[in-house]
Amino acid sequence: MINADEIAGILKGQIASYKTGDNEAEIGTVIEVGDNIARVYGLESVQQSELVEFANGVQGIALNLEEDNVGVVIMGDDTDIKEGEQVRRTGRIVSVPVGPALLGRVVNPLGVPVDGKGPIETKKYRTIENGAPGVVQRQGVKQPLQTGIRAIDALIPIGKGQRELIIGDRGTGKTAIAIDTIINQKGRNVFCIYVAIGQKNSTVSSLRATLEKAGAMEYTTIVTVSSAEPAALKFIAPFAGCAMAEDMMYEGKDVLIIYDNLTQHAIAYREVSLLLRRPPGREAYPGDIFFLHSRLLERAAKLSDELGGGSITALPVIETQAGDVSAYIPTNLISITDGQIYLQSGLFFQGIRPAVDVGISVSRVGSSAQIKAMRTVAGPLKLDLAQYRELAAFAKLASDLDKNTQAQLTRGEKITEVLKQPQFQPQAVEDQVMVIFAATKGLLTDIPTPRLQEWVASFVSFVHEKQPQIAESIRSTSQLSDENTKALQAAISEFNKSFL
Ligand SMILES: Nc1ncnc2c1ncn2[C@@H]1O[C@H](COP(=O)(O)OP(=O)(O)OP(=O)(O)O)[C@@H](O)[C@H]1O
Ligand SMILES: [Mg+2]
Repeated sequence: MINADEIAGILKGQIASYKTGDNEAEIGTVIEVGDNIARVYGLESVQQSELVEFANGVQGIALNLEEDNVGVVIMGDDTDIKEGEQVRRTGRIVSVPVGPALLGRVVNPLGVPVDGKGPIETKKYRTIENGAPGVVQRQGVKQPLQTGIRAIDALIPIGKGQRELIIGDRGTGKTAIAIDTIINQKGRNVFCIYVAIGQKNSTVSSLRATLEKAGAMEYTTIVTVSSAEPAALKFIAPFAGCAMAEDMMYEGKDVLIIYDNLTQHAIAYREVSLLLRRPPGREAYPGDIFFLHSRLLERAAKLSDELGGGSITALPVIETQAGDVSAYIPTNLISITDGQIYLQSGLFFQGIRPAVDVGISVSRVGSSAQIKAMRTVAGPLKLDLAQYRELAAFAKLASDLDKNTQAQLTRGEKITEVLKQPQFQPQAVEDQVMVIFAATKGLLTDIPTPRLQEWVASFVSFVHEKQPQIAESIRSTSQLSDENTKALQAAISEFNKSFL
């Protein structure tokens, strides 16, 4: 019989003589490959989300750490990767370059430039997955993030640090709202990141040209992964964009990030998960899809003053099928965000563009961030519109209407027309205030509705020329003083005389 001392002696001896081979845990072997997924044997000490490199230089992410193998998603072409080949650990969790060098650039989700403008000069990197700021590190949303779109800034205002969902069917103007919002940040010290997930390269390229023409690329980064690229790249894209945004937020800056769109992102994640043989749940999405999107959007924040007061405002975009907002991914995102901008194809085809359904769109935190002048003039707007919709449905049936009803209908019609806005023409908040003031005070009754768009444009330049102090005072004080209210009213009457 061997006694305990002897056993201990043998074990001690073995431990002492145990030498970790140089690469034992650093290099593994591909045992199976296909569909952009590789199963790798032997990477015992690899970390979750670590980058690994295949023999031909293609990179992958270790996503499934199992007992005897590691599931790696390949972020490139998998045709050159063969069973039996070596896989090397890099020791790095997936990270992307961050910092000012990224502004004006178009990069892929690994931070590799795809705009042909040379390498990105930065030494700063940030891991793509990071914890969200906690309660103490945040403060309330209290500054407006102006989209420049009247229907949104007046009725569904967005604040810095807020998460507002843009939701609608295909082709209802979701991207248009995002792009106008980016253009409107010019000269406002807000940096923008546009994450294009699963869009066509040609679409992204014309979008870049649009931003360039508007002078908006100077403060914008585009992170793009096209529909033809591996699902794994699409899956990390919003996290990569968010890491770039976080770097600026922690430097005390304000950032706007757009995820266009998270429907494509969810589909890519479903693909990756199914290929990794994770159990499917509702609509075949994996069980952690809610967690995926909530941990992404939780990273949007308004930081406390001690931390520099920076912010990330997130505008995730979601695509619906035939207006169905009760599908799995839309309901998840509705519950994660602080409000929704609903776009309706019915309105879009009636020519009401942006096709914002102001009846069901909400902003749960932004109204506290609206400037006072806007809050005052836009106050009656929602009620006016709600009454108008109710009356309009009813008026179709009624033959003769009393004066009061008629007046309400006219006002609703004028307001609806004034809230239409062409693309690429975001409007400063002080100008919005003047226009909405005219509409809600019933001062547009005599202007023929088809001429209202023209009225808006020429009225604004008229006031800027004749009474520049009105806009100036709204901009500097955020208020519409009694004196300026009178001046504005007079300006409108004077302008209307010449306009008609
Ligand atoms: N306010 C607007 N005025 C006039 N046209 C607009 C307006 N907004 C969008 N459009 C037009 O409507 C079309 C669809 O817009 P957009 O591409 O933004 O929609 P989308 O919802 O992002 O579409 P998709 O689902 O394909 O991504 C575009 O041709 C765009 O130019
Ligand atoms: Mg779009």
